Amino acid sequence: MSARIERVREAAQLASRMGEEVLAGLSSRTLPELPSKYFYDDRGSALFDDITRLPEYYQTRTELAILEGAAEEIVDHALPRELCELGSGVGRKVRLLLDAMARRGLLERCVLLDISEGFLVESAHTLDSDYHGLDVRGVVGDFLEDLPALGPGGGRLGLFLAGTIGNLHPDRVPAFLRAMARQLEPGDSFLVGFDLVKDEARLHAAYNDSAGVTAEFNRNILRVVHVHLGADFDPDAFEHVAFYDRDNAWIEMRLRASRDMRVSIPGAELRLDLNRGDEIRTELSCKYT
Ligand code: SAH
Ligand code: AVI
Repeated sequence: MSARIERVREAAQLASRMGEEVLAGLSSRTLPELPSKYFYDDRGSALFDDITRLPEYYQTRTELAILEGAAEEIVDHALPRELCELGSGVGRKVRLLLDAMARRGLLERCVLLDISEGFLVESAHTLDSDYHGLDVRGVVGDFLEDLPALGPGGGRLGLFLAGTIGNLHPDRVPAFLRAMARQLEPGDSFLVGFDLVKDEARLHAAYNDSAGVTAEFNRNILRVVHVHLGADFDPDAFEHVAFYDRDNAWIEMRLRASRDMRVSIPGAELRLDLNRGDEIRTELSCKYT
């Protein structure tokens, strides 16, 4: 068998959707924004993978350790025949649960959904060759809009790891959870990893690493907007900014213009004038209690 890959949207639809979202985000009068899902092309996904190995970035190590200790218990509780991971990335964590399912003789299907096509295709094919008899599906899509593409549940354990739920504005979380609930049958389960509020210095360091990998990840969003919409941003003219907002309990990442500039984004039919010091918000990472 080989992994089945499905694309929810064609390239042309993706570009026009991106144009609309970039236009709406950058036209904001209060604080221009770019949607954080646009960090993740091949380079952005590889940079995120580098982030997961940084000494300052505690989240991946912590969640892996939790899953290593709890995978058997989770599988015993949920008794899934299908694992379904949203925002699966390199597909490393899912293996801990697939192994536990295999030990119980439950392993049948695995569905990965991610916006980052190259990484998704590679991880789906790797799982397919490493787990004999496993039916692997990869869905290239957006977990905020395309959950129906997962198809009906039944024996499903949904996974949403890495604290990625924190990248959704809290106002969007209830609708997201309702949409996910519609893809589950009674008795199915959904496991979500939340990053918790903690010492501010630790949070700050995790998003301002000394090697500058997070800064490069942050600037990558400008390269993605260049490739798909023809934007002529100069990524080197933007400074990485990440700070903890205590009132909202979130880390906010921004890009700060280091000089005055005019940016043209033909695919979004937009011209943007930025003064030195102006900022574009690129990500929220909400911390929960
Ligand atoms: N689950 C992996 C990767 C987390 S990084 C881990 O635990 O390490 C977040 C992942 O979500 C990336 O792979 C990114 O491509 C994906 N992603 C971000 N926004 C998305 C969206 N709106 N729809 C689908 N995938 C998205
Ligand atoms: C994917 N997500 C949970 C990461 C986070 O920590 O919010 C993305 C990231 N942004 C900066 N570093 C990592």
